[in-house]
Amino acid sequence: MDIPGNREFLKDSIRLRIDFSATDQARGVPQPPIEKPVPPGVEPMPLPDPGALPFGKDLDLRAAIARRRSQRRFLPAPLSIEELSFLLWATQGVRDPDRRQPMLRTVPSAGARHALETYVAALRVTGVEAGLYRYLPSRHALVTEYLAGDLGKRLARACLGQTFVGEAAAVFIWATIPRRMEWRYGLAAHRVIPMDAGHACQNLYLACEAIGAGTCAVAAYHQEQMDALLRADGEEEFTLYLAPAGKVGA
Ligand SMILES: Cc1cc2nc3c(=O)[nH]c(=O)nc-3n(C[C@H](O)[C@H](O)[C@H](O)COP(=O)(O)O)c2cc1C
Repeated sequence: MDIPGNREFLKDSIRLRIDFSATDQARGVPQPPIEKPVPPGVEPMPLPDPGALPFGKDLDLRAAIARRRSQRRFLPAPLSIEELSFLLWATQGVRDPDRRQPMLRTVPSAGARHALETYVAALRVTGVEAGLYRYLPSRHALVTEYLAGDLGKRLARACLGQTFVGEAAAVFIWATIPRRMEWRYGLAAHRVIPMDAGHACQNLYLACEAIGAGTCAVAAYHQEQMDALLRADGEEEFTLYLAPAGKVGA
């Protein structure tokens, strides 16, 4: 097996791969939007204010870290919209809504580029019709992508038959818009984008501990099938990482 090329890619790529004079940022190309726009005529669905939610206020951080594990067995119970709001805030929420540029979040991101878009497949979320939604960090709201009752099965298929994915109450799907990161870091963008996705997923693991839920990171999926489910073009936006979440037994 010949893998040194990929190994080299993981090393020191900031120094080796960025010619800062040649990046889009240096050439004066306008910064790509930090968030996908809301399509004309679409009214985003506001989520409950995360600041007013009690989740996690009494949770010992040490206990949450110690308890965290990948969960693949979900109870039939739904998640509430408040719980979904909390999980979205924990994974990509805006830290200081009054400060617009850069739009800092509850997770770190290389150069604060935030080259992720968060999609949520709501399979069993009280008050949210089953379907695919996109999270708007700037407004802490959801945009409806499309409604569908059979998304669980389609997601499980696209995750190479991992049935537990379709048995979750909600599936978090992180797509990347790499241009946002390439604008500043050129080729080195591709090394740091997956690191950013890891931060989001780890926060999801920990936030789940606060609401009696669990999750499991999923990187094994069929790229074209997942991109088709997101209606992403597979080039300027594509799937990177998933995490089904739902209530779990004690
Ligand atoms: C990047 C990444 C990809 C993963 N992909 C999958 C996956 O596709 N399917 C799965 O069942 N678990 C997946 N996992 C979960 C790991 O199997 C799990 O983290 C590992 O077995 C350790 O167990 P723990 O998380 O309970 O400590 C993934 C974890 C990571 C970090």
